[in-house]
Amino acid sequence: MTSMLKKFEDAGVKIISHDVITGYSTFQLGKFTFSRDEYFAKITWEAKGQEFSHLMSADAFLRAVMRDVAWGFFYGWVNFDHVIGTQNHYGSVDLYAGTFNGVLKNAGVDYVENFETPLIMATFKAILHDWVSEGFDPFAAPEETGSAFGRKHGDNEAAIDRYRIATKRMPSLPGDSPLRDDLPVNRHFEDVVQDEPFIHCEPGFEGQLGGFNLFKYLSRSDVTWNPSVTSVCKESLFCPTTEEYILPIFHGNDRVEWFLQFSDEITWDIADKIDGSPIARVVMKPGDICAMPANIRHQGYSTKRSMLLVWENATPNLPEKYESGELSPYPIDFS
Ligand code: PHB
Ligand code: FE
Repeated sequence: MTSMLKKFEDAGVKIISHDVITGYSTFQLGKFTFSRDEYFAKITWEAKGQEFSHLMSADAFLRAVMRDVAWGFFYGWVNFDHVIGTQNHYGSVDLYAGTFNGVLKNAGVDYVENFETPLIMATFKAILHDWVSEGFDPFAAPEETGSAFGRKHGDNEAAIDRYRIATKRMPSLPGDSPLRDDLPVNRHFEDVVQDEPFIHCEPGFEGQLGGFNLFKYLSRSDVTWNPSVTSVCKESLFCPTTEEYILPIFHGNDRVEWFLQFSDEITWDIADKIDGSPIARVVMKPGDICAMPANIRHQGYSTKRSMLLVWENATPNLPEKYESGELSPYPIDFS
């Protein structure tokens, strides 16, 4: 047992075995177990008195867990794929297998268990620390990272301990999070102008008026599919992000969110939030704006790295308002 895993065990994480050949540990969370081999993550659970299991490619699994950890389980549902996922109850989290898959649910072989947030968070962090080897960065685009496969070799703590950057005031204002000008411009954004705006403010307002080049900021992002909260105006959060390859999760909404496509193109697969049946395919081009309703799940694909603004509504009690029907799942009714 490494001293790193000992720290997680002290936080209540259950490690049930260790494979000396592959170097990976197996974790238990309630009635779920998580194990991995050189290619796959395997999740098991019990239903109808029997053990069921599900396999995911190790890279897809690690990218999904990384998002769940970094986003603190996010708004609503984080589906790792069509079987496994989490639902955030803001204080506790449901981990499920098949519950939001119409076929598995109807067959009665699904399983869901609720955990206090700190325990599931510590377990997911321990899995990341144990299962990510040197050179693999679960936040990076596949072209920009090493492999997630093979036996355990080294680790990549720097990559997995990098959490979502939140603004304190507004980027560019004194005391705010750094703009990370030290990061290189991404290979797909070499044409992005790097000028910063000139700020002229009335005497007496120095340090209160700011501005920055958001495109420059995004052109230097070293992560994909990881919105950073760049401005907070009451309950309105602007979360720009750069996207390449596939959003590692299907996000199931518990509120409406808006997408503004700043550059290039993203294709979105939209499916029913509850059973996963396909609903629509949306192709967003630069300048396009769309609302993701509160009753769907969505996953995006971006061939060339693109810039997207995710606009989130952090108003308290929104999930209950949609759940009860007080609010329509659609922001606008065209009928
Ligand atoms: C979303 O679920 O809305 C989402 C998450 C991460 C992104 C973009 C969109 O990078
Ligand atoms: Fe979403």
